[in-house]
Amino acid sequence: MAYELEVKDLHASIDGKQILKGVNFKVKEGEIHAIMGPNGSGKSTLAYAIMGHPRYKIDSGNIVLNGESMVGLSADKRARKGLFLAFQYPITVSGVNLTSFLRSSYDAIRSPDGAPGKGGVPFVQFKRILDQKLDLLQIDPSFAGRYLNEGFSGGEKKKCEILQMAMLQPRIAVLDETDTGLDIDALKVVAEGVNKLAGPDLGVAIITHYQRILRYISPQFVHVMFDGKIAHSGGKELAEQLEEKGYGWLRAGA
Ligand SMILES: Nc1ncnc2c1ncn2[C@@H]1O[C@H](COP(=O)(O)OP(=O)(O)OP(=O)(O)O)[C@@H](O)[C@H]1O
Ligand SMILES: [Mg+2]
Repeated sequence: MAYELEVKDLHASIDGKQILKGVNFKVKEGEIHAIMGPNGSGKSTLAYAIMGHPRYKIDSGNIVLNGESMVGLSADKRARKGLFLAFQYPITVSGVNLTSFLRSSYDAIRSPDGAPGKGGVPFVQFKRILDQKLDLLQIDPSFAGRYLNEGFSGGEKKKCEILQMAMLQPRIAVLDETDTGLDIDALKVVAEGVNKLAGPDLGVAIITHYQRILRYISPQFVHVMFDGKIAHSGGKELAEQLEEKGYGWLRAGA
């Protein structure tokens, strides 16, 4: 069965402030969606709510993966069920090197109950897969020995998020502004990386402000968020129109 994530009339708040005001959204394996919208419209909030960030409270509505509600499940459980989020602002974890971090998450995601040591593969095999993915994303192998995101440039952090996606092989991934901060060459590498990973076994929702990345990663669907709701949906041409005309013409009719 193809994986399907459905967000149904989702209302969510943070620190008592309502941010999401009835989001409806569906993504299936094999599909690429782009989510656009002005700053503060709730795009990252939607991403966090899907992944189960504990600070975001679901007030009503539902997040359903393959018929099963995700509401109330911790982020690691959602990850084991096939969801993934690439952060807009990846955090630095000093003292944890990238290889051990990836090894622990690779192990945990394969473990039926998330307990360490149950889902692992021998280190040599893990290392072979890691090297392949580093190569795919053109990340210098020396990064594998560095602390997670410590001293990484903005673009390097974004690449590292996609490296995590490549390693964890989710079925539905939300990429929150993965293109922001990437130089032109890095943008191409990341977009090609996402394209190689995308396919029948992966559904992607890419949150972006720019049509630039959509030249490389071709979405079938483009959605625009305003004030906590998806106010418009269309095809790829919608992103081109937004680039040209801004949001004003849509907002007028929202
Ligand atoms: N703790 C909080 N208390 C009150 N408001 C908050 C809190 N956290 C976030 N918000 C508000 O929620 C709204 C939505 O934020 P969100 O990060 O989801 O927007 P976004 O669409 O991702 O914006 P951007 O394009 O700038 O990344 C913003 O107006 C933000 O100020
Ligand atoms: Mg955001």
